[in-house]
Amino acid sequence: MSQKSILITGCSSGIGYDAAHGMRDLGWQVFAACRKQADCDRLRAEGFTSPRIDYQDEATFAPALEQVLEATGGTLDALFNNGAFACPGAVEDLPSGALRSIFQANLFGWHELTRQVIPVMRAQGSGRIVQCSSVLGLVTLRWRGAYNATKFALEGLSDTLRIEMRDTGIDVILIEPGPVTSKIRQNSIPHFEQWIDWENSARADQYRDQLRARLYQRNGPDTFELPPSAVTRKLIHAVTARRPRPRYYVTTPTYIMGTLRRVLPTRALDWIVSKG
Ligand SMILES: NC(=O)c1ccc[n+]([C@@H]2O[C@H](COP(=O)([O-])OP(=O)(O)OC[C@H]3O[C@@H](n4cnc5c(N)ncnc54)[C@H](OP(=O)(O)O)[C@@H]3O)[C@@H](O)[C@H]2O)c1
Repeated sequence: MSQKSILITGCSSGIGYDAAHGMRDLGWQVFAACRKQADCDRLRAEGFTSPRIDYQDEATFAPALEQVLEATGGTLDALFNNGAFACPGAVEDLPSGALRSIFQANLFGWHELTRQVIPVMRAQGSGRIVQCSSVLGLVTLRWRGAYNATKFALEGLSDTLRIEMRDTGIDVILIEPGPVTSKIRQNSIPHFEQWIDWENSARADQYRDQLRARLYQRNGPDTFELPPSAVTRKLIHAVTARRPRPRYYVTTPTYIMGTLRRVLPTRALDWIVSKG
């Protein structure tokens, strides 16, 4: 049987980095894409083919895909859309530019890359498109409005695509991690600093006492936090199972919130998540 192939974005750290290693250990041909050239070079030194893909620069997609298809002879078995960032801040303080920026990275870029991959998968009659969503695509949390909005939109777009692709042999799968060890919090700081004028916010005190404390202080792991390998295990099932699940929950908070959002009235769910 010929070697299976996967393109993974956001491989510089966290979930993407672990997924690249996990899929290679499984014997797959892994294209471990990074946003920055320096990280592509680092991943190449680890033996990966590492095209540069920046969701905020769609001109990077075609050369990256060309590199992938040249190496595989024109096929791609799986795409793992993973690279993303957070932009913490109260919704009332989010300039629309901040939303445009995060939507390009976390949704529009994923969408355009997926659109460019679909013809390849259609031609081969099969494929798996795996989207790294979040428990924050199922329920919301204070300060996470921008990120929440991108993941909720991803849920809607991916659910629609899955239904539409039923006649193609292409499966669309969502992975829903809760707290996972990675650089996501640290990587959100430049976006917070670029966009949120917190000192002039009506919530300046809350930023000082709550959000900034959480962002800038080195805290231990969150309750129920798991290593990225917990996501990789679900990714492996998603791309190898004969009949993959449409959604894979990762971490206890996802199971709890995934259930509560179905059974609780909105006000009751609001009360619970406002404690988070
Ligand atoms: N960690 C969690 O608790 C958690 C929970 C639920 C879902 N997730 C999801 O898991 C995925 C991976 O995040 P992570 O936790 O592993 O965080 P991470 O360590 O911060 O990794 C994020 C990756 O995304 C890349 N990225 C950022 N902007 C990008 C862009 N414009 N184009 C392409 N790649 C970009 C980053 O590249 P640079 O290094 O160049 O910035 C990095 O490689 C994300 O989709 C995130 O929403 C994470």
